[in-house]
Amino acid sequence: MNLLIMGLPGAGKGTQAAKIVEEFGIIHISTGDMFRSAIANQTKMGILAKSYMDKGELVPDEVTNGIVKERLAQADVSEKGFLLDGYPRTIEQANALDDILTDLNMVLDGVINIDVDPSLLLERLSGRIIHKETGETFHKVFNPPAAGYDENDYYQREDDKPETVKRRLDINIEQGAPIIEHYRQKDLVYDIAGNNEIDLVFKDIVEVVSSL
Ligand code: AP5
Ligand code: MG
Repeated sequence: MNLLIMGLPGAGKGTQAAKIVEEFGIIHISTGDMFRSAIANQTKMGILAKSYMDKGELVPDEVTNGIVKERLAQADVSEKGFLLDGYPRTIEQANALDDILTDLNMVLDGVINIDVDPSLLLERLSGRIIHKETGETFHKVFNPPAAGYDENDYYQREDDKPETVKRRLDINIEQGAPIIEHYRQKDLVYDIAGNNEIDLVFKDIVEVVSSL
């Protein structure tokens, strides 16, 4: 099964993606995670990506399309299927993905669109904490790790500062609409109410994905 998960920054793409790939045994491909790992490894691509991400802006399409194409061509993806998270982010990326999938003889089975009231997103992102060792995402209030957890074991994302979040939201609101429309025309979009609690959102997603 080949899926996309879409939604504004903080909608819960990563949170739900982790649960979906566990449930359905498909491969999670997050362009944001790939860039953050390139930054941590100080690769040339990481240094370039950081200069955009720190400002809340999108990494250029040529770079992003290249890493996605390379990842989708790997054997585990064709064997197990994929869940793309954070890609496509521009209509050019959506067109590029169509071509990549055609080249690789793959088809998209569905687009999960997590719909969240934008007024909730700042609070979600400012409270997000990520476990240093496992990379697992939590929230100080909405999804805290075990009671009495040590704050030093967690970090906050550089781009979760309020000024950067504002820029990320503006860009994603503007660029996202034509992408959803692109997939609506192909009848692939499943809208999920993302204002609910994490487990309720997941239940709705499982229902949709199981029906595909
Ligand atoms: P990326 O890493 O993709 O970030 P994003 O789209 O901004 O989305 P987030 O990861 O911030 O949010 P999420 O939806 O995954 O939410 P999460 O589950 O963590 O991209 C980062 C940057 O990389 C971009 O700005 C760009 O520069 C670059 N980039 C990436 N892809 C690119 C591309 N294709 N092209 C160009 N550039 C690209 O949840 C957020 C918080 O809310 C967590 O604390 C979580 O615990 C909590 N939460 C989740 N669900 C709920 C719920 N239902 N109720 C309450 N709290 C919840
Ligand atoms: Mg994410």
